[in-house]
Amino acid sequence: MNQTLYMLKAIWNWKTSGILSKRTLKQVKFDWQRLKTRAKRHGTKPFIPSHDRLHLGSGRHLVNGWLNVDVCKSDYDIDFACGWLPWQNHVFKAIVSQHTIEHLELKTELLPLLCELRRVLKPEGELWLSCPDIEKVCRSYMEHRMVDLIAECRTRIPKFSLGKAPSSEMINHLFHQNGEHKNLFDFELLSWALKQSGFTQISRVTETDLLEKLPGFPSRADDLQSLYVVAGGV
Ligand SMILES: C[S@@+](CC[C@H](N)C(=O)[O-])C[C@H]1O[C@@H](n2cnc3c(N)ncnc32)[C@H](O)[C@@H]1O
Repeated sequence: MNQTLYMLKAIWNWKTSGILSKRTLKQVKFDWQRLKTRAKRHGTKPFIPSHDRLHLGSGRHLVNGWLNVDVCKSDYDIDFACGWLPWQNHVFKAIVSQHTIEHLELKTELLPLLCELRRVLKPEGELWLSCPDIEKVCRSYMEHRMVDLIAECRTRIPKFSLGKAPSSEMINHLFHQNGEHKNLFDFELLSWALKQSGFTQISRVTETDLLEKLPGFPSRADDLQSLYVVAGGV
């Protein structure tokens, strides 16, 4: 009984007990948002979207002329981990998702999402993905102790800082991002996931390729740390 009381008190006093870390609380808040979004979409019948280009995981970067989707505050809120997408087959001619797939569990969340993306993409359409690249990050760690990637990150986020920690702390930031990142990819692993989901043509590209093909997307300036892939085929 004493132990149960201790545990209940620790949870009740979560701010001072340190039992629910900042990371856990952030995750609980995010999962609560996912649940609210799932409830809002429950029972939705497949429909034709307002745009034929999909921006998946738009965050704060809403792109004109695209259907920007995210868990909240987007053109159409969805939980990507729920296993289905609300649109009819073959409705999008292009799909872009930058730095979002690493937020999903590989087998239970990402593979079902990729299968759904194949379904809603037109047969001749293209899926553009980017995420942190295991190979590039490891190479930077071995050859430059991450200093080059920190400099690149500062071009995007001028205030970015690791505090007083050595530059190798950057590897934790990229691989875990305070618990938000569930998986990382190299080209081999991402190609495997895409093939499992029905994509047959998969190529490694760069951010420049994406920006040239799809003007209007804001530059992330993150080629040093990111894997860029374009996938299609049926
Ligand atoms: C790192 S941000 C990337 C935002 C933007 N694409 C960019 O490049 O700046 C990842 C985005 O994925 C979204 N996200 C992660 N998991 C999600 C989920 N299960 N359902 C919907 N959105 C999710 C987050 O809300 C966030 O906006």
